[in-house]
Amino acid sequence: MRVDVVTIFPEYLAPLNLSLIGKAREAGVLDVRVHDLRTHATDRHRTVDDTPYGGGPGMVMKPEPWAAALDAVTADPPQAAARPRIVVPTPGGRPFTQAVANQLAEQPWLVFACGRYEGIDRRVIDHASSYGTVDELSIGDYVLNGGEVAVLVMVEAVARLLPGVIGNADSLVEESHSDGLLEYPVYTKPASWLDLDVPEVLLSGDHARIARWRRDEALRRTARVRPDLVRALDVEDLDRRDLEVLEAEGWIAGPDGRFSSAQGPVAH
Ligand code: 6GU
Repeated sequence: MRVDVVTIFPEYLAPLNLSLIGKAREAGVLDVRVHDLRTHATDRHRTVDDTPYGGGPGMVMKPEPWAAALDAVTADPPQAAARPRIVVPTPGGRPFTQAVANQLAEQPWLVFACGRYEGIDRRVIDHASSYGTVDELSIGDYVLNGGEVAVLVMVEAVARLLPGVIGNADSLVEESHSDGLLEYPVYTKPASWLDLDVPEVLLSGDHARIARWRRDEALRRTARVRPDLVRALDVEDLDRRDLEVLEAEGWIAGPDGRFSSAQGPVAH
């Protein structure tokens, strides 16, 4: 996979050389190239921002340097005639989820356009569709100063899905979110520590009982901390024991196949 990142802070992307992502790069499954937007500014001061039309606080990124940067990056495709998926990290984007990460991992070429200040002139995002499919993505409901840290998050989530990057393919299937549930708790030796014992079932060697206990724990944890994930579950995908566990946590399956909280909707 080829990944290009355009930013005014190339040093912010230094962690992409470390650990898992660094290994993916060394193994040749990931080719990351970071580009400085300022090299595409045209004036003596290398200006990339200006005041917003219509007034208001902050600065807006100017369109011309962005068009020049996207021209330069897309002029060097990984394969002849390839078109990139262009990702614009923004708190105003659609949510970046595991499902989105899985989709991005299928792409041969991602171009990330990092905004700073109050954002990028809207015409850049509209114009970018002439280079490839544009995706405005948010990593969560909070505000960062720029897209760079969000790019680190997204590239890590995508890179670990690439073939050969994580040795054990099972760890990709078993983990949080792949089945719409949070992870079950994990333990290692010693079996007793500070008077705290590892749950007996995990020492039993009874693999069916262990699997059931882990699923119960995953259901309970999800029921307690992520009502949004419980509401997204389909009753059809659950067995009778699952329904009992959720019911004990105050969740009731309706005739529509969806769960609702016995306490009623949560007040905000
Ligand atoms: Cl993707 N970018 C910025 N600047 N802030 C964010 C974000 C992205 N996701 C949440 N907050």
